[in-house]
Amino acid sequence: MTTSPALRVTDLCKSFAGITAANNINVEAADGEIIGIIGANGAGKTVFVNMITGYLKPTSGKIEYHGEDITGIEPRDATHVGVCRSFQVSQVFMTMTVRENLLERIWI
Ligand SMILES: Nc1ncnc2c1ncn2[C@@H]1O[C@H](COP(=O)(O)OP(=O)(O)OP(=O)(O)O)[C@@H](O)[C@H]1O
Ligand SMILES: [Mg+2]
Repeated sequence: MTTSPALRVTDLCKSFAGITAANNINVEAADGEIIGIIGANGAGKTVFVNMITGYLKPTSGKIEYHGEDITGIEPRDATHVGVCRSFQVSQVFMTMTVRENLLERIWI
């Protein structure tokens, strides 16, 4: 018997008025697996996360969570099935030096 991965992304694409922000992304993740996404500024990391969590509708492709098709799901419904995100808001401690900030860097 084969079980579905927690997350399966198939041929996921997103375009904005001629700009291809995500081009044929294929990813699988198992329950408990931790995956890092790296890429240059503008590579499409945030667009990818926004599509998975419902904040952006893919142009094409498929997103499945535990075998359920959640492509184009609303963020509220994504949360209900167990898919959610945090938002990257970088902040600095004004009373600390640049070096101290780098050592204590937090993401809220
Ligand atoms: N709402 C939008 N409308 C038009 N273009 C967009 C939109 N959102 C993202 N883009 C474009 O899609 C591409 C990918 O952007 P994205 O924000 O996903 O990059 P990123 O990898 O998260 O970059 P960073 O490391 O700076 O956070 C960029 O060219 C960006 O300008
Ligand atoms: Mg980003």
